[in-house]
Amino acid sequence: MAFPEGFIYELKSRNDITEVISSYVALKRRGRNMVGLCPFHGEKTPSFNIYTETDSFYCFGCGASGDVISFIMKIENLDYVDAVKYLAQRVGLDMPEDSYDNSLSNLRRRVFEANREAARFFYRSLMSPEGKGGRDYLRGRMLTDATIRHFGLGYAPDKWTALCDHLKAKGFKENEIISANLGVKRHSGNGIIDRFRDRVMFPIIDLRGNVIAFGGRIMSDAKPKYLNSSDTPVFKKSENLFSLNNAKNTGSRVLLLCEGYMDVISVSQAGFQNAVASLGTALTSEQAVLMKRYADEIIICYDADEAGQKATARAIPILRAAGLTVRVLSIPNGKDPDEFIKSKGADGPAAFAAIIEASGNDVDYRLQKIKANHNLATPEGKVDYLEAAAKLIADIESPIERDVYVSGLSRETGVDKQALLTQIDRIIKKKSRDNRRKEARQLQTQLSGRDDKIDTERRTKLKSTSAEEALVAYLIKNPDSLRYIQSQVNAEQFQNSLMKRYFVYFSDRISGGLEPLNNLTADFSSDEQSKLYRILHRNEGIAMTPQSLREFIGVIQGESQKPSDKGAMTTEQINTYFDRIRRNKQ
Ligand code: UTP
Ligand code: MN
Repeated sequence: MAFPEGFIYELKSRNDITEVISSYVALKRRGRNMVGLCPFHGEKTPSFNIYTETDSFYCFGCGASGDVISFIMKIENLDYVDAVKYLAQRVGLDMPEDSYDNSLSNLRRRVFEANREAARFFYRSLMSPEGKGGRDYLRGRMLTDATIRHFGLGYAPDKWTALCDHLKAKGFKENEIISANLGVKRHSGNGIIDRFRDRVMFPIIDLRGNVIAFGGRIMSDAKPKYLNSSDTPVFKKSENLFSLNNAKNTGSRVLLLCEGYMDVISVSQAGFQNAVASLGTALTSEQAVLMKRYADEIIICYDADEAGQKATARAIPILRAAGLTVRVLSIPNGKDPDEFIKSKGADGPAAFAAIIEASGNDVDYRLQKIKANHNLATPEGKVDYLEAAAKLIADIESPIERDVYVSGLSRETGVDKQALLTQIDRIIKKKSRDNRRKEARQLQTQLSGRDDKIDTERRTKLKSTSAEEALVAYLIKNPDSLRYIQSQVNAEQFQNSLMKRYFVYFSDRISGGLEPLNNLTADFSSDEQSKLYRILHRNEGIAMTPQSLREFIGVIQGESQKPSDKGAMTTEQINTYFDRIRRNKQ
């Protein structure tokens, strides 16, 4: 997969990484670098950094890292070639002709095309005589023709190969149809059959208008009620939301989070187009982070039944962790939003607006749930209630907000406010102690390389690996030192095979007059790339002087003369070792 080196160079220089990322992340300057809240995991204090020196980003929280191309791959859910196209388009750069071919990219393109063709096919079939059952079903559920069209609903015929035949006639290969999860192999092993049969179809559309998957509802009481596309090269269920493509356009920065397809469609038909659904899975943090791009507040509109309430309790901390404020809709009489709106007939929209207006914030919601679980008439019940409530309030970040709830609680139970505050203070202190311990443990694990999946050798060869990492970082930042380095060490002396690969790769690029980091995304896997940026940034604070360079070289030379396995170091040895290195550097 080769784009000309010069093309990538120009692409990257024209797409300034800070400028590109700033349209997704609010950035603040910190020294030479920029920081912000990571768009790839939920967080409230910024650990996402942009390094202008290496034109790269790195998140200390989740380890996401790379250059401007990998940023676009990740945030726009594109593969390498498409991310390059995206950035080229962004700055009006022509793509080089036919110099690239990427089979995964081709397959993804074909899967997108197959999905689009399938959506058209399902829609036409819904409108045809054979779709009468589907039409009757959707009308029975009070959907207007305009709504059906707006969501592109359809019908999968009651036949074994209707869609497969149609797609084949349009030139799609069996493997493409299977990859799109629109067809599956017959049990006999010969040929393929339609995945969706005799169901009304709900297309799932991504933020750029591509059909990426389907949900199909059976029209009887048979099971499964909904059949959904499995994950495909263009679809990951845990990272998408139904109807976000519509909801993102309302400009309101509030999203209504529903459980199901029909809820979203009903709510939207009632005039609330900012509704999305989490595709039948428990809400994931990826979905929360995705919503945060378009919203500051989420109103959870899950079913009023027990399952829905459980799901609500699970979703609240996930949404909060992504920096969203949360309200919870309370729907009377155990209904879901769709049933509620329908039950009100022509007053549906107004009635729904009223319960949205009345929806309380998540803390109120959770306090009420806790209260309902305790018997406040007994002293023990009251104590348990207050302890559970104190725990919940301790989680609130703003002291003012905490104070409001404590006052309420004190008034309600007659317990002294100061006593409650002391209790909460104790919980907060303990939590921050626990957090600090956890962070220290994580840091240690990182340093020891015990959790390093890419570089499994690091753990047992810590000393040589650290020196080799530092040398690689030095070389990238000081390409002029290549000759001197090569006069002192050669690749064969590297103990760590990944570091050796980096060393050979960067030596070659530098002697070929190429910018070291220019083509990283094409030449290394995304994990290997992250690993490299991690090394660069880990060595950022350490003085990169000729003296430290001689030191790294000394270690590499020394280690290469020792018998190979010295066994893993203990945590204590690791800490002493790093302390010594740090002292030496200063
Ligand atoms: P529900 O069972 O609450 O369905 O599942 P619903 O939204 O009320 O649907 P209708 O009104 O009966 O048609 C909520 C969501 O869970 C997923 C679907 O996304 C559904 O919309 N689900 C449910 C499945 O994926 N498969 C199933 O078999 C059931
Ligand atoms: Mn439901």
